[in-house]
Amino acid sequence: MAPKVVLTRYLDPDKLEGAAILKKAAKEGKIDYTAYDKPGNAPREWVLENVKGAESVVVMLGDKINDEFLDAAGPSLKVVSTMSAGYDHVDTAALKKRGIRLGTTPDALTDATADIGAMLTLMASRRAGEGIRAVVDGKWPTMPWDPLLLCGRGLQGSTVGVFGFGKIGQLTLKRLLGFGISRVLYSTSKIGQPLSPSKDHFSLSSLTSSLNVSFDPAQSLDELAKESDFLIVCCALTEETKGIINSSFLSKMKPSAYLINTARGPIVDSDALVAAVKEGKLAGAGLDVVDGEPNIGADHPLVREQKIVVLPHIGSATVETRSEMSRQAARNCLAGIGIEGFEEWDNEVKL
Ligand code: DGY
Repeated sequence: MAPKVVLTRYLDPDKLEGAAILKKAAKEGKIDYTAYDKPGNAPREWVLENVKGAESVVVMLGDKINDEFLDAAGPSLKVVSTMSAGYDHVDTAALKKRGIRLGTTPDALTDATADIGAMLTLMASRRAGEGIRAVVDGKWPTMPWDPLLLCGRGLQGSTVGVFGFGKIGQLTLKRLLGFGISRVLYSTSKIGQPLSPSKDHFSLSSLTSSLNVSFDPAQSLDELAKESDFLIVCCALTEETKGIINSSFLSKMKPSAYLINTARGPIVDSDALVAAVKEGKLAGAGLDVVDGEPNIGADHPLVREQKIVVLPHIGSATVETRSEMSRQAARNCLAGIGIEGFEEWDNEVKL
């Protein structure tokens, strides 16, 4: 009997290659395939009911992969393949205990997420959010061009701090180097640790030296907070990073500085961020992720604050990127259960 494979979200096979791969494998009889077929997240009840007896599952950020899910799937489950780079929605200890392997899609979305990081840096510092609100609210006729109208700050000559210096952090920075920044402070997973040549994914150290940009590891979180004109958060959400950008951290930042977060919402304390901006302790922020998303209404304090630009987690949202993410997720899902033609994982997380 063909192994059961479950996909917890409708994926359009004409746009997202992973869906076409899974459909083809099903047609060829290589897998017994169940996929949610309505728009949106599959309801939890559907997921728990349908994962029963699955050997491999493709899941999304919105699925909680915990003991409840694993119990529902039962002992047949060998692989959880998430169509995402982050896996904070997966209880990795529970997977490890049960000998279940985990696949992710980190390399698919580096460029797209770095684009959004650079865009949010510019949007926040050039006050694009305030400008767009004014235009949409019909206020432009009351605010003719004025020498100081919506003036922000440029990146030229600034210090950019990057908290979390993997591929996304490095590529975000690479984009910003084009804007004439003069200094980079970065933090790898161990604060103060210089970037090892094997982790210098984009030859940043040679690029920064050719551009005459100073390029150093921050020696402490305090230094990163105090020195950065733009602080870009690109780290994974872990027990250590949850809430690390809190009121104490923000109070050390320059009042003229901007905070950008393209990583995960809970890394930043939303209340502390709103307070810092309101009290003039921080110039503004650009966020692609917010603690509690997607339940962020128009009345959320972060959304109401003019100097904060909020996007609804669209870092990886290009059709090409999502197609590649789905392709990698499908391949991980099939490789993990030994389906012919899918011998290689695109990325397996070492648990
Ligand atoms: C991921 O894959 O972790 C991203 O946050 C989704 O865009």
